[in-house]
Amino acid sequence: MTESVRDDITIFRFPDYIQHKNLLHWVNEMVVLTQPDQVYWCDGSDAEYDRLCAQMVVAGTLKKLNAAKRPNSYLAWSDPSDVARVEDSTFICADTKEEAGPTNHWVDPTQMRGQLKILFDGCMRGRTLYVVPFSMGPLGSPNAHIGVELTDSPYVVVNMKLMTRMGRAVYDVLGERGDFVPCMHSVGKPLTLGELDVPWPCNEKKIIAHFPRTREIWSFGSGYGGNALLGKKCFALRIASNIGRDQGWLAEHMLVLSVISPDNKKYHVAAAFPSACGKTNFAMLIPPKGFEGWCVRTIGDDIAWIHLGKDGRLYAINPEAGYFGVAPGTNQQTNPNCMASIQRDAIFTNVALTDDDDVWWEGMTLSPPDHLLDWQGRDWTPEDAGANGVCAAHPNARFTVAVQNNPAHDPAWDCAQGVAIDAFVFGGRRSTTVPLVTEARNWEEGVYMAATMGSETTAAAMGVEGVVRQDPFAMLPFLGYNMSDYFQHWLDIGKQSARTCEAVGSAMPKIFCVNWFRKNTAGKFVWPGYGDNMRVLKWILQRVEGVAQGTEHFLGTSPRYADLDWVNLAFKKEDFHSAMAIDKAAWHEELNLHRVFFTQLAYHLPEELVATHTVLTQRLAS
Ligand code: OXD
Ligand code: MN
Repeated sequence: MTESVRDDITIFRFPDYIQHKNLLHWVNEMVVLTQPDQVYWCDGSDAEYDRLCAQMVVAGTLKKLNAAKRPNSYLAWSDPSDVARVEDSTFICADTKEEAGPTNHWVDPTQMRGQLKILFDGCMRGRTLYVVPFSMGPLGSPNAHIGVELTDSPYVVVNMKLMTRMGRAVYDVLGERGDFVPCMHSVGKPLTLGELDVPWPCNEKKIIAHFPRTREIWSFGSGYGGNALLGKKCFALRIASNIGRDQGWLAEHMLVLSVISPDNKKYHVAAAFPSACGKTNFAMLIPPKGFEGWCVRTIGDDIAWIHLGKDGRLYAINPEAGYFGVAPGTNQQTNPNCMASIQRDAIFTNVALTDDDDVWWEGMTLSPPDHLLDWQGRDWTPEDAGANGVCAAHPNARFTVAVQNNPAHDPAWDCAQGVAIDAFVFGGRRSTTVPLVTEARNWEEGVYMAATMGSETTAAAMGVEGVVRQDPFAMLPFLGYNMSDYFQHWLDIGKQSARTCEAVGSAMPKIFCVNWFRKNTAGKFVWPGYGDNMRVLKWILQRVEGVAQGTEHFLGTSPRYADLDWVNLAFKKEDFHSAMAIDKAAWHEELNLHRVFFTQLAYHLPEELVATHTVLTQRLAS
């Protein structure tokens, strides 16, 4: 340990292996501002993880689960006011309102800095400030970026260890002057001398602020998920989308999976779905009976960084190193790979606790145990669900687990240059209107489909559930700049990719739009989903190969009944019709909504999208 490297750093000790003066200077400044009792430099070791978890068990933040049933696993229950991302308190502090765009909450950067200075002043009193170095993307990869999170939450530290490449090796990559994104986080609950801590400290006032120009993140008041694990939504999407725009690449809310076909060809698919719409399930899909020669593997389940290769193809890396997935609904039928992943070494948040110290959530088993402690620690019996409709697990309850625990992870998940994407898939949660699968005619129409995607809201964010809202590219809560400029960025990347692909004879990815969530007139889901999505995936890959047939309609090309592989599934033709049907009146209404949405996005809206809207309207009318 060294006492100081320069005159103005005298307040704390730091490990000798840190050579980066600006980093030390910044930490020093933040220590002066937040006034923690101690500073702890995380090394990312397993021993450190175990020690912090043990401390949190004593503090009541974590419960250690039954080691025989769920080895090395813990449960946290959050404060009931801190259970999801807070979109209304999430800000993009670009220099101008136009740069943030109409889909983001904007606050002038100077004004926000003033507010943050007051909030962070002394906010870590009585606590430890943890310094958490992490790499988003393979350590040392030219496509990776480094962040350092300062946090007063040990829960955040252990989650960051599972979710990112976190630890001492990051300083070697950073060297003396490497770039890093400063990520400042506090739960916002200082302790006075002698004051007893609570298991889940947080503050009623929450602010998640991003400064795109200076690439900074400041998060105050929440300890939960995307609000607090700053590598995820804040860095890998909101800040990274800005870096990607400047450097010519894409930061996307996408899972990436690989498929090996029976003739041993490997494909990669990147798919964007809004939060809690089944990205983790799709990324870990197990093909149904009859598809024995097909093998699906996971590259990532939530975020992809996508770069143009020299051959014009688009290469994706998974910036993360773990999964922070939605627990409710996950079970042995819907996602066996996920159940295997979280069999051990996992942190669960806001699920229920069984009498033998294991976890349970709605949908995990057909019938619930006779008695549980719910996510708020209250006694819960199945009658509570029946009579009072009380969930034992919070609908946005989560698990955190490292990639290596997934038996279906593809070793290429850590490949420095990424994997070449053959198809992009965009999907929302729509009970009506949008067909099961449609292939876009070309890149521009694919971008239009993604830009006009709507989805019914879920419990992943605070607010009303089940309301349809436009969620372009599933990026509405995650884009760090103006949405129309982002559409243009996608069109530009497409043009560059097309030019090079044509010159060198490689193939651009195709774009598809899917909807697993269509309901019939009785209000039931028509499509079985989960493993059966393989039937749609097979058709998509055969379209990539140019061997599958389909029927063309106003929006693009969709399979006819005979074009999908129905082996071992008795799926009626009339159900297929319900999953596929294009209702002209509903689409007329839908196109009207697109027009209204485009009016809101008029500033910098690409001409191509307006032209596509006109063409689609004409095609629908004819
Ligand atoms: C997530 C989300 O946590 O999208 O991945 O909300
Ligand atoms: Mn997500």
